Amino acid sequence: MQDYSIITNGIRKVYRKGEGGFLFRKKNKETIIALDDVSLSIKRGELFGLLGPNGAGKTTLVKILSTLILPDAGTALVNGYDVLKEPGKVRASIGVVSSGERSLYWKLTARENLEYFARLYKVPDQVAKRRIRELLNLMGLEDRADELVEKYSSGMRQKLAIARAMLHDPEVLLLDEPTLGLDPSFSKSIRSFIREELNKKQGKTILLTTHYMEEADKMCDRVAFITKGRIVAVDTPERLKNMIGKNEVLKLVVEELRESVSNVVKNLPFLDDYGITGMEQNSIKTIRMYMKNVDSHIQEIVESFSNAGCRILSLSVEKPTLEDVFIKLTGEALRDEY
Ligand SMILES: Nc1ncnc2c1ncn2[C@@H]1O[C@H](COP(=O)(O)OP(=O)(O)O)[C@@H](O)[C@H]1O
Ligand SMILES: [Mg+2]
Repeated sequence: MQDYSIITNGIRKVYRKGEGGFLFRKKNKETIIALDDVSLSIKRGELFGLLGPNGAGKTTLVKILSTLILPDAGTALVNGYDVLKEPGKVRASIGVVSSGERSLYWKLTARENLEYFARLYKVPDQVAKRRIRELLNLMGLEDRADELVEKYSSGMRQKLAIARAMLHDPEVLLLDEPTLGLDPSFSKSIRSFIREELNKKQGKTILLTTHYMEEADKMCDRVAFITKGRIVAVDTPERLKNMIGKNEVLKLVVEELRESVSNVVKNLPFLDDYGITGMEQNSIKTIRMYMKNVDSHIQEIVESFSNAGCRILSLSVEKPTLEDVFIKLTGEALRDEY
């Protein structure tokens, strides 16, 4: 039997807008289905990516697996423990890095933060001392361990947040958008640390959420696509990309001056599929078009857009990315622009 670290079965979560909010309690009964029948199995030792745009339900799933909120339906096992029946054992099994939330005390030093949380996790003092030294070393933070966290850069804070999640040496790590808002070089070092050190070397099972397709593609053993609370595909990045076929993708950036871009693409009979992205208030659109024999169609495509009064800003032929697969499956882009 396959050994799984995380299993969810039919997880559903509905938020009621204004829930708990005194002012809205009566007026607004609108509901949001944040997770709709989510069933996933994550193997022990796997680095599993949950890829989806903002609002897809990623953080909600992480919160359920962390026992911070309860699902409305369905079950979830983490490290063999049921989030509903054994939340304490679940919490002892996981390290969580939550996105966008302050999980550190800025008025304490890095070392003081780790000491504080080690006590909170009930790590014995002697073990904690050694572990904190190791983690600071591992993160390259030992030189600045006694500085206040408020003096840290956002990248250093993120490293410290990961160290914090590792204090009790958990089996499973839940990393919610761990590189969000970090500059590219720092993101790169965090990514390779997660993949090489935490996953490959230390053998941690990792659930990582992201809306960066490169991150999911380069780091993860398997990726699940999530949109509007539903899982639409689960597979290795390679196999997902093969869904587009070996064909290349034509990417066109145009300024829409007269006719709409969607009218133009609808009249190109040789397209297998396409995706259009761009800001609503902006006339600049990016179109990704999927077809066989790209080269033989470029001339016609350029003419069609020009005749419709679209100004072509750039044109390139690219290999399919996870974003292309995402567009194909959901009709939706991961970001507004790329
Ligand atoms: N506390 C809440 N109350 C009401 N709606 C919420 C709450 N938290 C999240 N949502 C909504 O649930 C959906 C999923 O949100 P979230 O899980 O944060 O998505 P993601 O992390 O993928 O961006 C979104 O539509 C979001 O607006
Ligand atoms: Mg989120």
